[in-house]
This record gives sequence, structure tokens and C-alpha cells, in this order.
Amino acid sequence: MEDEEERFRAKIDPWSHEVRPHGSSSTGRPLKSWTSAAVFASFVVIILCGSAVSWLDIFIFPGVSLSQMIPAKRGHRELPQKMEFPLNCTNSSTMPQTCPANYPKKHEPKESYTVACPEYFRWIHEDLRPWKSTGITREMMERTKHIAHFRLVIANGNAYIEHYKRPFQTRDVGTIWGILQLLRLYPGKVPDLELMFYCNDRPVIMKSHYQGPNAALPPPLFHYCRDETSLDILFPDWSFWGWHEVNIRTWANTYQAIKKKAKEIEWKDRMPYAYWKGNPDVSPKRQDLMTCNATDEYDWNARLYVQNWAAESSHGYKESRLEDQCIHRYKIFVEGQAWSVSDKYILACDSTTLMIEPVYHDFFLRGMIPVEHYWPIRLNNKCRDIKFAVEWGNNHIKEAQAIGESGSRFMEENLKMKYVYDYMLHLLVEYAKLLKFKPEVPAGATKYCAEGMACPVSGLFRTNMEDSMVKSPSDSLPCTLPPPYDPRELQDFMERKRNNTRLLEMWEAEYWNNLNKKH
Ligand SMILES: *[C@@H]1O[C@H](CO)[C@@H](O)[C@H](O)[C@H]1NC(C)=O
Ligand SMILES: *[C@@H]1O[C@H](CO)[C@@H](O)[C@H](O)[C@H]1NC(C)=O
Ligand SMILES: *[C@@H]1O[C@H](CO)[C@@H](O)[C@H](O)[C@H]1NC(C)=O
Ligand SMILES: *[C@@H]1O[C@H](CO)[C@@H](O)[C@H](O)[C@H]1NC(C)=O
Repeated sequence: MEDEEERFRAKIDPWSHEVRPHGSSSTGRPLKSWTSAAVFASFVVIILCGSAVSWLDIFIFPGVSLSQMIPAKRGHRELPQKMEFPLNCTNSSTMPQTCPANYPKKHEPKESYTVACPEYFRWIHEDLRPWKSTGITREMMERTKHIAHFRLVIANGNAYIEHYKRPFQTRDVGTIWGILQLLRLYPGKVPDLELMFYCNDRPVIMKSHYQGPNAALPPPLFHYCRDETSLDILFPDWSFWGWHEVNIRTWANTYQAIKKKAKEIEWKDRMPYAYWKGNPDVSPKRQDLMTCNATDEYDWNARLYVQNWAAESSHGYKESRLEDQCIHRYKIFVEGQAWSVSDKYILACDSTTLMIEPVYHDFFLRGMIPVEHYWPIRLNNKCRDIKFAVEWGNNHIKEAQAIGESGSRFMEENLKMKYVYDYMLHLLVEYAKLLKFKPEVPAGATKYCAEGMACPVSGLFRTNMEDSMVKSPSDSLPCTLPPPYDPRELQDFMERKRNNTRLLEMWEAEYWNNLNKKH
């Protein structure tokens, strides 16, 4: 199979492929629900009648937000030269690094129009719902002090950190860096607050501990992922600002690199298999997936490779570049211990993502819809599901490609860094509204600033910080937060996901039935 891939790579001449213009729209809205209903109706028609009617047209229409149609952007020459505040390292043997005091404390953007945030922002309200009617007391928050990795205090636009534990690698550092950039992007907009942050893999605030008539309210704890059984409050993980330990650059950079490569080779010209590369040892789910690898006896249409991080690290990560992994029509996503930061890289490829139904989700994944943005694969039936997905896709190229593109468009439009910051901002604003105590800087806390973090470090760690450093306040307003789901809407949303998945399962059952009849 390596040969197969080698040969295939050799065939690709990066310059001979036309560069496809890619979704230039920048609307922050995912597909509307009616779109998906229509897609489904036509999907059913196609599968039942074998009709060649293309439903692609309906499928690819994203909702256009009103604000987008208002040509409110002024000419560039009217704008005064933008003040930038780059990293200013002054550390020397005679003078220690200080936090520059010249960054603006407030900024009113010139643009007065605003766009609606992507739909997945509505989950901010869901995450905070447990405290909606009661608010959050200091006692509630302090209850997680023994599990949290750090406490964040925002006071007068400055960030203070009280460290409790060291997490794996530099997860806390990356997260704090991201928060500092938020403060730089929106000076004066992040309210005073105190919160506890947890950096390990698995969610920790279990719903089951806080149910029943006399149950205590759960403590609010910020974290990167949760599942159906937990109440952790979701916050973007460190990888958006890079993950230098495994040679991953900032999300903005990685996204650009992936996009560039993905444009070099069209979907239909990619290898017609499902690809995965990673470390299978982190979870049984991944180890299990390895049984779907093609053997001499049977081909499940999967091409699976083990990532040996140690070997990669000593060979300059040449074999693990994310942007070089867009040469298959299908890419498999499988979570690790909990959520996996790889979701966004896999989804960005313009390949069709075969997603082994995740148990855990990060802040945006729960807003994505099976069949619309990715092809769901059941954990307990994965080899057969992968086999079917690839066969179906290779026989329905337009439709399979459209799913891939729709997933990638979600990354491009809904997960740009502006929205990652907007999500953080809205979450913190809504959270701060719930606080029933006055935030205070504890004696053991340290004031953080970009210079204090970046100046002492070097290598990719430093590069990632410089690349992701916000050099001036945002000239556009944050997007507007959509309202909470009412219970009915939320139910419908979840049902829509289940319906989509169920439909695929029906087709697949039919597929295997027919196959068995033939033999
Ligand atoms: C899957 O099969 C290919 C081809 O035989 C092989 O190169 C690769 O190492 C296998 N992957 C795993 C995880 O065993
Ligand atoms: C960098 O910081 C030093 C010391 O605080 C200051 O004198 C200098 O003007 C700053 N440089 C820039 C470009 O802001
Ligand atoms: C300043 O530089 C010295 C060595 O050059 C280093 O040990 C120290 O950590 C740096 N301090 C800060 C605050 O950057
Ligand atoms: C899900 O499917 C059921 C049964 O086919 C249907 O009645 C229901 O309206 C669907 N729900 C959504 C949200 O599409």
C-alpha cells in the first residue's frame, strides 16, 4: 500500500492542477435546517429511485446572512495607518522583561455593522444553563480548586493566573496565551471575572453527581471537552495557538497550508480510500480501528498508518505534515482519550470525513451535522461502515465530494480565528454575568502579558506565539451571539442528527443485504 501511495504521489504534479477557487464567501452561518431537510428528501429520492437528479445545488447553498449583503466597508485610504504593537522583548542581563504599558485599554472599531455568530455559539447558553437561575457564588467556583490547573482572574483588562498543577506538556501556557490575545483583540470588552480551568483530557464535572431534589449545584469549570454525561464549560483548546511539542503550527497557519495543498488535487483525483494516520496507542477505539486495515484477504477500503512520534521527531516531522495528508478522498476521524484536536485538520482537507461517532466534543464539533458535514461511522460496526461509505462515495462522487466540501467550508467560515476569539469573548461575557461575587486578584497570582510569555521561549514555541500574536485591536465588532435554543429547537436539532444517521444505517443495511444475495 505504501507503494500504491508512492506511485500516486509521483503522479501528482502540483503545478498541473488547476487551482479551484474555494468558497470565497465569509458568512458565519452554517447550512439552514430547511436546506438539510431538502437535502435529505432528495437524498432519499436518489437512493430509492436511483435517479440521477443532482441535489448538489441545494446542498451547497449556505445561508447568506443579511449583514453580508450590506456593502458597508469603507475604502482603505480613509482609514488612518493602523497602530501595531508587536512583541517587544527588552530582556537583557541588565534589565528584566517587563509588560509594556502602551497597549490600548479600549478601542472602538470604526465598522459599526456586525454579523451573526455561527449557530454553534448557541451552545454557550447550554453550557451555562446549570447556573442560569441561581448565578455562581464564590463558594461554587472555589470547589474545583483541588482539580483545576489554574485560576484565571481578569481585572481591568489584565490577566492574572494562579497556578495549581502542571498539566501535560504546555496546555496551560497555550491556553493562557490565547486568553491574552483575546484581551488584545478586544481591549475593554472582557469583563472582570474569576474562573477555574482544567487541562486534562477527560471531562470531570459529572452530571450524575448533581441530580436529584437535594443535589448541590455543580461547580463551574472551564475545559476543552465534554460529553453527554458531564457539565464542563467548553473553551477552545491550546492547539489553535499551535502545538509545538508535535510540530504543529497555529491553526491559522496550518489551515492555510492544508488549504493550499488541498487545492492542488481535486477530490475525484484523490486515492479512493479512507485514510488515517495517528497514534493508535492512546485509546482502545483507535487500536480497534487498526483491524480495519486492508490485508491480503480482505480490503475494507481503509488505509491506516501508525504515527511514530518519536521517530518523526528525530526526522524533522517530514512524514507527519498535516497538509500532506489530503491525498485521499476519505479521511477517518477517531477520537483519542477524549476529544481529539485533529478534528479540525481532518475536516479542513476537502476530503470526505468519515467520523467515528465521537463521544466527546469540543466547542464547535457539537454544532456539526452528520451527512451534511461528515459521514458518521458507528464505533461498533466501523470496518463495515467504512467499506460501505467508500463504496457509496465512489459511486456517488458529487454527493460524497459535497459532504467533504461542506465540512471544510464549516472550518473555513465558522472556525476562523476571529470566531474562535468571538466564542471566547461571548462565553466569558455570559459567564461573568452570572458571577455573584466581586472578582479579586489572589495574593498568589501572577500578572501575565504577551512579552512575559513569549520573550523567554524559543523555537517553534516562540514562532507560534509570534504568528498568533494579536498586534492591534480588532477593527470589526464581535459577531452577535444568537439566542439560546428553546427546548423544542434543541430537541429538533438533536433529532435531526439522529435521523440523518439512522437513514444512512438503513441504506447500509440494504447494501449488505444485496451484497449477500449476490453471493
Ligand atoms: C496497514 O497496511 C499497510 C499496507 O499493508 C501497512 O503499510 C500499514 O503499516 C498497516 N497499518 C497498520 C496500522 O498496521
Ligand atoms: C519597547 O519597550 C521599550 C521599553 O519599555 C520602549 O522604550 C520602546 O519604545 C518599546 N518599543 C516599541 C517598538 O514599542
Ligand atoms: C531574561 O533572559 C534571561 C537569560 O537571557 C532568562 O534567564 C530569563 O528567564 C529572561 N527573563 C524574562 C522575564 O524573560
Ligand atoms: C425525524 O424523523 C422522524 C420520523 O421519520 C420525523 O417524524 C421527524 O420529523 C424527523 N425530525 C427531524 C427534526 O427532522
